[in-house]
Amino acid sequence: MAVEQTLSIIKPDAVAKNVIGEIYSRFEKAGLTIVAARMMQLSREQAEGFYAVHKERPFFNDLVSFMISGPVMVQALEGEDAIAKNRELMGATNPKEAAPGTIRADFAVSIDENAVHGSDGADTAKQEIAYFFKPEEVCKRIR
Ligand code: TYD
Repeated sequence: MAVEQTLSIIKPDAVAKNVIGEIYSRFEKAGLTIVAARMMQLSREQAEGFYAVHKERPFFNDLVSFMISGPVMVQALEGEDAIAKNRELMGATNPKEAAPGTIRADFAVSIDENAVHGSDGADTAKQEIAYFFKPEEVCKRIR
């Protein structure tokens, strides 16, 4: 399996619940390493740009408003099969359908406030990491 990088965001609902550490612990226990991280308050423009792919969807405005409702924790994760592994840890988009023990099952209450974001493929992972981090801000792992 290849070593990959993926972008993860702990969304405002989970930051407000004070579970950043619990979520980081799940990444680490699954063998994912945090190679870049920044807490930020997104501007409306940043959130709209990040979710531009969804701009025609009916939930777009509510999604953007939610993402700017409080600080988010943004990180790049690295590890074997990191993109799929992170998606597995996250659970289904709708927490009501998320497998027990996943981040969304444990910390999210609704599809529109669902605790975490994770890149869904290799191309989006590259784009999304570059959206938040300059190349020199993504650290090299000591192996
Ligand atoms: P999507 O890319 O489908 O899910 P995921 O985050 O699991 O990759 O959707 C992006 C975000 O849009 C999702 O995390 C929450 C929001 N959303 C809604 O608010 N309502 C919806 O019906 C859907 C499908 C998504």
